Amino acid sequence: MDISKLRAQTGYITLDDGYGNTGSCESAITFIDGDKGILRYRGYAIEEVAQHSSFIEAAQLLIWGELPTKAERDRFGQLLGENAALPEPMRRHFSSFPPSAHPMAILSAMINALQAYDLPHLKIDTPEQFEVAAASLISKVRTLAAASYKSSIDEALVYPRPDLKYAENFLHMMFSKPYQEYVPTPEVAGALNLLLVLHADHEQNCSTSTVRMVASSQANLYASAAAGVCALWGPLHGGANQAVIEMLEQIEEQGISVKDYVARVKDKTAGVKLMGFGHRVYRNFDPRASIIKKAADALLDKMHIQDPKLELARELEAAALSDDYFTERKLYPNVDFYSGIILKAIGIPIDMFTVMFAIGRMPGWIANWKEIHDNPTARIYRPRQIYTGPTPRPFVERRDRHHGIRS
Ligand code: SDX
Repeated sequence: MDISKLRAQTGYITLDDGYGNTGSCESAITFIDGDKGILRYRGYAIEEVAQHSSFIEAAQLLIWGELPTKAERDRFGQLLGENAALPEPMRRHFSSFPPSAHPMAILSAMINALQAYDLPHLKIDTPEQFEVAAASLISKVRTLAAASYKSSIDEALVYPRPDLKYAENFLHMMFSKPYQEYVPTPEVAGALNLLLVLHADHEQNCSTSTVRMVASSQANLYASAAAGVCALWGPLHGGANQAVIEMLEQIEEQGISVKDYVARVKDKTAGVKLMGFGHRVYRNFDPRASIIKKAADALLDKMHIQDPKLELARELEAAALSDDYFTERKLYPNVDFYSGIILKAIGIPIDMFTVMFAIGRMPGWIANWKEIHDNPTARIYRPRQIYTGPTPRPFVERRDRHHGIRS
Protein backbone atom coordinates (compact mmCIF):
# COMPACT_ATOMS: atom_id res chain seq x y z
CA MET A 1 0.00 0.00 0.00
CA ASP A 2 1.55 3.31 -1.12
CA ILE A 3 0.83 5.76 1.73
CA SER A 4 2.94 8.62 0.32
CA LYS A 5 -0.19 10.73 -0.42
CA LEU A 6 -2.06 9.77 2.79
CA ARG A 7 -1.26 13.04 4.67
CA ALA A 8 -2.06 15.25 1.69
CA GLN A 9 -5.38 13.48 1.15
CA THR A 10 -6.48 12.85 4.79
CA GLY A 11 -4.22 14.86 7.10
CA TYR A 12 -3.16 11.59 8.72
CA ILE A 13 0.29 9.99 8.94
CA THR A 14 1.06 6.39 9.91
CA LEU A 15 3.11 5.34 12.95
CA ASP A 16 5.21 2.17 12.92
CA ASP A 17 7.77 2.13 15.74
CA GLY A 18 10.97 0.47 14.47
CA TYR A 19 9.59 0.36 10.91
CA GLY A 20 8.44 -3.19 11.69
CA ASN A 21 5.85 -3.08 8.94
CA THR A 22 6.87 -0.17 6.71
CA GLY A 23 8.62 -0.42 3.36
CA SER A 24 11.18 2.37 2.99
CA CYS A 25 12.03 1.78 -0.65
CA GLU A 26 11.72 -0.40 -3.72
CA SER A 27 14.88 -2.46 -4.21
CA ALA A 28 15.96 -5.12 -6.73
CA ILE A 29 18.99 -6.40 -4.83
CA THR A 30 17.98 -8.97 -2.18
CA PHE A 31 14.77 -10.89 -1.51
CA ILE A 32 13.82 -12.44 1.83
CA ASP A 33 10.73 -14.53 2.64
CA GLY A 34 10.89 -14.64 6.43
CA ASP A 35 8.09 -17.17 6.80
CA LYS A 36 9.73 -19.66 4.46
CA GLY A 37 13.35 -18.92 5.38
CA ILE A 38 14.21 -17.86 1.83
CA LEU A 39 17.10 -15.51 0.97
CA ARG A 40 18.08 -14.64 -2.63
CA TYR A 41 20.77 -12.33 -4.02
CA ARG A 42 19.45 -10.88 -7.32
CA GLY A 43 17.19 -13.92 -7.69
CA TYR A 44 19.82 -16.57 -6.90
CA ALA A 45 19.19 -18.75 -3.81
CA ILE A 46 21.71 -18.07 -1.05
CA GLU A 47 22.44 -21.80 -0.83
CA GLU A 48 23.64 -21.78 -4.46
CA VAL A 49 25.56 -18.53 -4.21
CA ALA A 50 27.25 -19.80 -1.04
CA GLN A 51 28.17 -23.09 -2.70
CA HIS A 52 29.38 -21.78 -6.07
CA SER A 53 30.48 -18.12 -5.72
CA SER A 54 33.55 -16.44 -4.34
CA PHE A 55 32.88 -13.42 -2.13
CA ILE A 56 33.97 -11.09 -4.93
CA GLU A 57 31.65 -12.76 -7.47
CA ALA A 58 28.81 -12.38 -4.95
CA ALA A 59 29.82 -8.73 -4.50
CA GLN A 60 29.70 -8.11 -8.25
CA LEU A 61 26.33 -9.88 -8.46
CA LEU A 62 24.86 -7.69 -5.71
CA ILE A 63 26.31 -4.42 -7.00
CA TRP A 64 25.80 -4.80 -10.78
CA GLY A 65 22.95 -7.31 -10.80
CA GLU A 66 24.56 -10.17 -12.73
CA LEU A 67 27.04 -12.96 -12.02
CA PRO A 68 30.30 -11.71 -13.57
CA THR A 69 31.88 -13.08 -16.73
CA LYS A 70 35.55 -14.08 -16.52
CA ALA A 71 36.55 -10.76 -18.10
CA GLU A 72 34.43 -8.79 -15.55
CA ARG A 73 35.82 -10.85 -12.68
CA ASP A 74 39.43 -10.38 -13.86
CA ARG A 75 38.96 -6.62 -14.32
CA PHE A 76 37.39 -6.17 -10.88
CA GLY A 77 40.06 -8.39 -9.35
CA GLN A 78 42.71 -6.18 -10.91
CA LEU A 79 41.02 -3.05 -9.48
CA LEU A 80 40.90 -4.70 -6.04
CA GLY A 81 44.63 -5.42 -6.23
CA GLU A 82 45.48 -1.91 -7.41
CA ASN A 83 43.42 -0.34 -4.61
CA ALA A 84 44.24 -2.60 -1.67
CA ALA A 85 47.05 -0.57 -0.10
CA LEU A 86 46.37 2.39 2.16
CA PRO A 87 47.92 5.78 1.41
CA GLU A 88 51.18 5.85 3.38
CA PRO A 89 50.17 8.85 5.57
CA MET A 90 47.03 6.91 6.62
CA ARG A 91 49.12 4.08 8.02
CA ARG A 92 50.47 6.48 10.61
CA HIS A 93 46.96 7.18 11.95
CA PHE A 94 46.81 3.71 13.51
CA SER A 95 49.63 4.39 15.97
CA SER A 96 47.56 7.24 17.43
CA PHE A 97 44.76 4.90 18.54
CA PRO A 98 45.20 3.34 22.00
CA PRO A 99 45.48 -0.49 21.89
CA SER A 100 42.19 -0.62 23.81
CA ALA A 101 40.30 1.14 20.97
CA HIS A 102 37.49 -1.10 19.61
CA PRO A 103 38.21 -2.05 15.99
CA MET A 104 34.69 -0.92 14.96
CA ALA A 105 35.48 2.59 16.21
CA ILE A 106 38.72 2.55 14.23
CA LEU A 107 37.02 1.15 11.13
CA SER A 108 34.28 3.80 10.97
CA ALA A 109 36.82 6.55 11.70
CA MET A 110 39.26 5.32 9.07
CA ILE A 111 36.61 4.83 6.36
CA ASN A 112 35.66 8.44 6.97
CA ALA A 113 39.33 9.42 6.92
CA LEU A 114 39.68 7.70 3.53
CA GLN A 115 37.58 10.53 2.13
CA ALA A 116 40.53 12.83 2.72
CA TYR A 117 42.83 10.61 0.66
CA ASP A 118 40.60 8.89 -1.94
CA LEU A 119 39.39 12.25 -3.22
CA PRO A 120 39.03 11.10 -6.86
CA HIS A 121 36.57 8.46 -5.69
CA LEU A 122 34.27 10.84 -3.87
CA LYS A 123 32.91 12.41 -7.03
CA ILE A 124 31.12 9.62 -8.86
CA ASP A 125 29.70 10.82 -12.19
CA THR A 126 30.46 7.85 -14.43
CA PRO A 127 30.09 4.05 -14.15
CA GLU A 128 33.89 3.74 -14.38
CA GLN A 129 34.38 6.14 -11.43
CA PHE A 130 31.81 4.14 -9.43
CA GLU A 131 33.52 0.82 -10.25
CA VAL A 132 36.90 2.10 -8.99
CA ALA A 133 35.33 3.60 -5.84
CA ALA A 134 33.51 0.34 -5.11
CA ALA A 135 36.70 -1.68 -5.64
CA SER A 136 38.66 0.72 -3.47
CA LEU A 137 36.20 0.49 -0.58
CA ILE A 138 35.77 -3.30 -0.77
CA SER A 139 39.53 -3.77 -0.97
CA LYS A 140 40.57 -1.20 1.62
CA VAL A 141 37.98 -2.16 4.27
CA ARG A 142 39.95 -5.42 4.56
CA THR A 143 43.29 -3.58 4.82
CA LEU A 144 41.89 -1.15 7.42
CA ALA A 145 40.55 -4.04 9.50
CA ALA A 146 43.84 -5.93 9.48
CA ALA A 147 45.76 -2.74 10.27
CA SER A 148 43.52 -2.00 13.27
CA TYR A 149 44.27 -5.52 14.58
CA LYS A 150 48.01 -5.25 14.01
CA SER A 151 48.18 -1.86 15.74
CA SER A 152 46.15 -3.21 18.70
CA ILE A 153 48.81 -5.91 19.27
CA ASP A 154 51.66 -3.48 18.57
CA GLU A 155 52.86 -5.38 15.50
CA ALA A 156 54.05 -3.93 12.21
CA LEU A 157 51.30 -3.37 9.64
CA VAL A 158 51.53 -5.87 6.78
CA TYR A 159 51.12 -4.69 3.17
CA PRO A 160 48.53 -6.43 0.97
CA ARG A 161 49.79 -8.73 -1.77
CA PRO A 162 48.14 -8.16 -5.18
CA ASP A 163 48.70 -11.83 -6.10
CA LEU A 164 46.47 -13.16 -3.30
CA LYS A 165 42.70 -13.72 -3.44
CA TYR A 166 40.43 -11.60 -1.24
CA ALA A 167 40.12 -13.79 1.89
CA GLU A 168 43.71 -15.07 1.65
CA ASN A 169 45.02 -11.49 1.39
CA PHE A 170 43.07 -10.46 4.48
CA LEU A 171 44.40 -13.40 6.49
CA HIS A 172 47.91 -12.60 5.22
CA MET A 173 47.61 -9.01 6.49
CA MET A 174 46.16 -10.24 9.79
CA PHE A 175 48.60 -13.00 10.65
CA SER A 176 51.80 -12.61 8.59
CA LYS A 177 54.80 -10.86 10.09
CA PRO A 178 57.46 -8.95 8.12
CA TYR A 179 59.78 -11.91 8.63
CA GLN A 180 57.22 -14.75 8.53
CA GLU A 181 54.51 -15.37 5.91
CA TYR A 182 51.16 -16.76 7.10
CA VAL A 183 49.56 -19.04 4.52
CA PRO A 184 46.01 -20.13 5.37
CA THR A 185 44.89 -23.67 4.61
CA PRO A 186 42.28 -23.94 1.84
CA GLU A 187 39.71 -24.91 4.53
CA VAL A 188 40.35 -21.76 6.57
CA ALA A 189 40.30 -19.47 3.53
CA GLY A 190 37.20 -21.27 2.23
CA ALA A 191 35.37 -20.88 5.56
CA LEU A 192 36.13 -17.14 5.65
CA ASN A 193 35.05 -16.74 2.03
CA LEU A 194 31.76 -18.51 2.87
CA LEU A 195 31.13 -16.26 5.89
CA LEU A 196 31.73 -13.15 3.79
CA VAL A 197 29.33 -14.39 1.07
CA LEU A 198 26.63 -15.09 3.66
CA HIS A 199 26.98 -11.62 5.21
CA ALA A 200 27.10 -9.73 1.90
CA ASP A 201 23.55 -8.33 1.91
CA HIS A 202 20.23 -8.71 3.69
CA GLU A 203 17.71 -6.18 2.26
CA GLN A 204 16.68 -3.30 4.55
CA ASN A 205 18.40 -4.30 7.82
CA CYS A 206 19.36 -1.59 10.30
CA SER A 207 22.82 -0.79 8.88
CA THR A 208 21.77 -0.97 5.22
CA SER A 209 18.82 1.33 5.93
CA THR A 210 21.31 3.67 7.61
CA VAL A 211 23.49 3.63 4.50
CA ARG A 212 20.42 4.47 2.38
CA MET A 213 19.37 7.22 4.82
CA VAL A 214 22.79 8.88 4.48
CA ALA A 215 22.94 8.23 0.71
CA SER A 216 19.53 9.89 0.29
CA SER A 217 21.07 13.26 1.22
CA GLN A 218 23.52 12.66 -1.67
CA ALA A 219 26.39 12.11 0.76
CA ASN A 220 29.30 10.24 -0.79
CA LEU A 221 29.86 6.48 -0.73
CA TYR A 222 32.48 6.55 2.04
CA ALA A 223 30.37 8.69 4.39
CA SER A 224 27.42 6.33 3.85
CA ALA A 225 29.53 3.22 4.46
CA ALA A 226 31.07 4.69 7.64
CA ALA A 227 27.53 5.33 8.94
CA GLY A 228 26.67 1.72 8.14
CA VAL A 229 29.61 0.54 10.26
CA CYS A 230 28.30 2.54 13.23
CA ALA A 231 24.77 1.12 12.93
CA LEU A 232 26.10 -2.43 12.53
CA TRP A 233 28.10 -2.19 15.78
CA GLY A 234 25.09 -2.50 18.11
CA PRO A 235 24.64 -5.87 19.91
CA LEU A 236 21.09 -6.15 18.55
CA HIS A 237 22.54 -6.13 15.02
CA GLY A 238 26.04 -7.00 13.82
CA GLY A 239 27.48 -6.82 17.33
CA ALA A 240 25.52 -9.98 18.14
CA ASN A 241 28.26 -12.29 16.82
CA GLN A 242 30.61 -10.97 19.52
CA ALA A 243 27.77 -11.04 22.10
CA VAL A 244 27.06 -14.72 21.36
CA ILE A 245 30.60 -15.81 22.19
CA GLU A 246 30.60 -13.58 25.29
CA MET A 247 27.33 -15.25 26.32
CA LEU A 248 28.83 -18.74 25.83
CA GLU A 249 31.96 -17.70 27.76
CA GLN A 250 29.81 -16.39 30.62
CA ILE A 251 27.83 -19.66 30.79
CA GLU A 252 31.07 -21.66 30.83
CA GLU A 253 32.91 -19.46 33.36
CA GLN A 254 29.97 -19.23 35.75
CA GLY A 255 29.10 -22.90 35.37
CA ILE A 256 25.50 -22.07 34.49
CA SER A 257 23.52 -25.03 33.18
CA VAL A 258 21.76 -24.66 29.82
CA LYS A 259 18.49 -25.24 31.64
CA ASP A 260 19.19 -22.39 34.09
CA TYR A 261 20.34 -20.01 31.37
CA VAL A 262 17.23 -20.65 29.31
CA ALA A 263 15.18 -20.03 32.45
CA ARG A 264 16.96 -16.67 32.92
CA VAL A 265 16.15 -15.73 29.32
CA LYS A 266 12.49 -16.58 29.85
CA ASP A 267 12.41 -14.60 33.09
CA LYS A 268 11.83 -11.15 31.59
CA THR A 269 13.02 -9.34 34.70
CA ALA A 270 16.53 -10.62 34.17
CA GLY A 271 16.76 -8.71 30.88
CA VAL A 272 18.81 -11.63 29.53
CA LYS A 273 18.51 -12.42 25.81
CA LEU A 274 19.58 -15.55 23.95
CA MET A 275 22.04 -13.72 21.69
CA GLY A 276 22.15 -14.98 18.13
CA PHE A 277 18.48 -15.93 18.35
CA GLY A 278 15.47 -14.13 16.88
CA HIS A 279 15.02 -11.96 13.82
CA ARG A 280 12.65 -9.20 12.75
CA VAL A 281 11.99 -10.87 9.39
CA TYR A 282 12.76 -14.58 9.74
CA ARG A 283 9.89 -16.31 11.53
CA ASN A 284 11.58 -19.56 10.61
CA PHE A 285 15.18 -20.71 10.36
CA ASP A 286 17.63 -18.10 9.04
CA PRO A 287 19.00 -20.02 6.03
CA ARG A 288 22.44 -18.56 6.69
CA ALA A 289 22.49 -20.03 10.21
CA SER A 290 21.91 -23.53 8.83
CA ILE A 291 24.77 -23.16 6.32
CA ILE A 292 27.14 -21.69 8.94
CA LYS A 293 26.32 -24.42 11.46
CA LYS A 294 27.31 -27.11 8.94
CA ALA A 295 30.45 -25.16 7.96
CA ALA A 296 31.46 -24.79 11.61
CA ASP A 297 31.14 -28.53 12.10
CA ALA A 298 33.21 -29.26 8.99
CA LEU A 299 35.95 -26.71 9.74
CA LEU A 300 36.46 -27.76 13.36
CA ASP A 301 36.54 -31.37 12.25
CA LYS A 302 39.14 -30.57 9.54
CA MET A 303 41.20 -28.54 12.02
CA HIS A 304 40.84 -31.21 14.73
CA ILE A 305 39.49 -28.54 17.10
CA GLN A 306 37.26 -29.58 19.97
CA ASP A 307 35.58 -26.27 20.89
CA PRO A 308 33.29 -26.79 23.90
CA LYS A 309 31.49 -23.59 22.87
CA LEU A 310 30.21 -25.32 19.72
CA GLU A 311 28.75 -28.13 21.81
CA LEU A 312 27.28 -25.60 24.25
CA ALA A 313 25.75 -23.63 21.35
CA ARG A 314 24.18 -26.81 20.01
CA GLU A 315 22.72 -27.61 23.45
CA LEU A 316 21.33 -24.09 23.79
CA GLU A 317 19.76 -24.32 20.33
CA ALA A 318 18.20 -27.70 21.10
CA ALA A 319 16.85 -26.46 24.45
CA ALA A 320 15.38 -23.31 22.88
CA LEU A 321 13.81 -25.10 19.90
CA SER A 322 12.05 -27.53 22.23
CA ASP A 323 10.68 -24.73 24.44
CA ASP A 324 7.35 -23.03 23.71
CA TYR A 325 8.72 -19.63 24.85
CA PHE A 326 10.96 -19.56 21.78
CA THR A 327 8.84 -21.44 19.26
CA GLU A 328 5.71 -19.41 20.06
CA ARG A 329 7.73 -16.20 19.51
CA LYS A 330 9.28 -17.74 16.39
CA LEU A 331 12.78 -17.35 17.75
CA TYR A 332 15.34 -19.36 15.79
CA PRO A 333 19.12 -19.11 15.40
CA ASN A 334 20.15 -16.22 13.16
CA VAL A 335 23.32 -15.57 11.18
CA ASP A 336 25.21 -14.59 14.32
CA PHE A 337 24.59 -17.71 16.40
CA TYR A 338 27.30 -19.93 14.92
CA SER A 339 29.48 -17.47 12.96
CA GLY A 340 31.67 -16.72 15.97
CA ILE A 341 32.60 -20.40 16.28
CA ILE A 342 34.17 -20.26 12.82
CA LEU A 343 35.82 -16.88 13.39
CA LYS A 344 37.32 -18.15 16.66
CA ALA A 345 38.65 -21.29 14.93
CA ILE A 346 40.28 -19.12 12.23
CA GLY A 347 42.00 -17.11 14.97
CA ILE A 348 40.08 -13.85 14.57
CA PRO A 349 40.02 -12.05 17.97
CA ILE A 350 36.50 -11.63 19.41
CA ASP A 351 36.51 -7.83 19.25
CA MET A 352 37.11 -8.14 15.49
CA PHE A 353 34.01 -10.30 14.92
CA THR A 354 31.71 -7.41 14.02
CA VAL A 355 34.44 -5.96 11.80
CA MET A 356 34.27 -9.24 9.85
CA PHE A 357 30.53 -8.68 9.48
CA ALA A 358 31.25 -5.16 8.14
CA ILE A 359 33.77 -6.51 5.59
CA GLY A 360 31.14 -9.00 4.42
CA ARG A 361 28.31 -6.44 4.30
CA MET A 362 30.28 -3.81 2.37
CA PRO A 363 29.08 -4.99 -1.09
CA GLY A 364 25.46 -4.87 0.07
CA TRP A 365 25.90 -1.35 1.40
CA ILE A 366 27.55 -0.29 -1.87
CA ALA A 367 24.77 -1.90 -3.93
CA ASN A 368 22.12 -0.04 -1.93
CA TRP A 369 24.01 3.25 -2.16
CA LYS A 370 24.22 2.74 -5.95
CA GLU A 371 20.47 2.10 -6.17
CA ILE A 372 19.81 5.54 -4.67
CA HIS A 373 22.65 7.27 -6.53
CA ASP A 374 21.44 5.93 -9.90
CA ASN A 375 17.80 6.87 -9.27
CA PRO A 376 17.08 10.34 -10.71
CA THR A 377 13.81 10.56 -8.75
CA ALA A 378 15.35 9.54 -5.39
CA ARG A 379 14.15 11.74 -2.51
CA ILE A 380 15.85 12.55 0.80
CA TYR A 381 14.70 10.24 3.64
CA ARG A 382 12.78 12.41 6.07
CA PRO A 383 10.24 10.47 8.22
CA ARG A 384 7.44 12.25 10.13
CA GLN A 385 6.71 11.83 13.88
CA ILE A 386 3.96 11.92 16.47
CA TYR A 387 4.87 14.77 18.88
CA THR A 388 4.44 13.88 22.56
CA GLY A 389 6.35 16.76 24.18
CA PRO A 390 5.14 19.80 26.20
CA THR A 391 2.30 22.01 24.93
CA PRO A 392 3.21 25.71 24.16
CA ARG A 393 4.56 27.53 27.24
CA PRO A 394 6.11 31.02 27.95
CA PHE A 395 9.86 31.35 28.28
CA VAL A 396 11.21 31.43 31.90
CA GLU A 397 13.90 34.09 32.45
CA ARG A 398 17.22 33.02 34.07
CA ARG A 399 16.58 35.17 37.19
CA ASP A 400 13.27 33.38 37.73
CA ARG A 401 14.86 29.98 37.25
CA HIS A 402 17.38 30.80 39.97
CA HIS A 403 14.43 30.96 42.33
CA GLY A 404 13.21 27.53 41.24
CA ILE A 405 10.50 28.89 38.96
CA ARG A 406 10.09 26.42 36.09
CA SER A 407 7.15 27.83 34.18
C1 SDX B 1 21.27 -9.34 12.54
O1 SDX B 1 17.62 -7.16 10.04
C2 SDX B 1 18.50 -7.98 9.59
O2 SDX B 1 18.38 -8.52 8.51
C3 SDX B 1 19.69 -8.20 10.50
C4 SDX B 1 20.70 -9.26 10.08
C5 SDX B 1 21.43 -8.86 8.82
O3 SDX B 1 21.94 -9.77 8.14
O4 SDX B 1 21.60 -7.63 8.58
O5 SDX B 1 20.05 -10.49 9.90
C6 SDX B 1 21.78 -9.42 11.15
O6 SDX B 1 21.27 -8.28 13.10
C7 SDX B 1 20.68 -10.58 13.18
C8 SDX B 1 20.12 -10.31 14.61
C9 SDX B 1 21.28 -10.32 15.59
N1 SDX B 1 20.80 -9.91 16.94
C10 SDX B 1 20.70 -10.80 17.94
O7 SDX B 1 20.94 -11.99 17.84
C11 SDX B 1 20.31 -10.16 19.27
C12 SDX B 1 19.23 -11.00 19.93
N2 SDX B 1 18.00 -10.87 19.16
C13 SDX B 1 17.02 -9.91 19.60
O8 SDX B 1 17.52 -8.78 20.20
C14 SDX B 1 15.89 -9.71 18.59
O9 SDX B 1 15.48 -10.95 18.23
C15 SDX B 1 16.12 -8.87 17.33
C16 SDX B 1 16.71 -7.55 17.66
C17 SDX B 1 17.00 -9.60 16.39
C18 SDX B 1 14.76 -8.66 16.69
O10 SDX B 1 14.03 -7.87 17.54
P1 SDX B 1 12.47 -7.56 17.28
O11 SDX B 1 12.04 -7.99 15.92
O12 SDX B 1 12.26 -6.14 17.67
O13 SDX B 1 11.73 -8.55 18.24
P2 SDX B 1 11.22 -8.15 19.66
O14 SDX B 1 12.33 -7.57 20.46
O15 SDX B 1 9.96 -7.38 19.49
O16 SDX B 1 10.89 -9.60 20.29
C19 SDX B 1 9.61 -10.20 20.18
C20 SDX B 1 9.51 -11.12 21.41
C21 SDX B 1 9.70 -10.37 22.73
O17 SDX B 1 9.04 -11.10 23.73
P3 SDX B 1 7.52 -10.61 24.19
O18 SDX B 1 7.63 -9.14 24.53
O19 SDX B 1 6.64 -10.87 22.97
O20 SDX B 1 7.18 -11.48 25.36
O21 SDX B 1 10.59 -12.09 21.38
C22 SDX B 1 11.43 -11.88 22.49
C23 SDX B 1 11.17 -10.48 23.00
O22 SDX B 1 11.49 -10.39 24.38
N3 SDX B 1 12.82 -12.02 21.97
C24 SDX B 1 13.79 -12.64 22.62
C25 SDX B 1 14.90 -12.59 21.76
N4 SDX B 1 14.57 -11.95 20.64
C26 SDX B 1 13.27 -11.58 20.79
N5 SDX B 1 13.82 -13.23 23.84
C27 SDX B 1 15.01 -13.78 24.19
N6 SDX B 1 16.14 -13.79 23.42
C28 SDX B 1 16.11 -13.21 22.20
N7 SDX B 1 17.20 -13.20 21.45
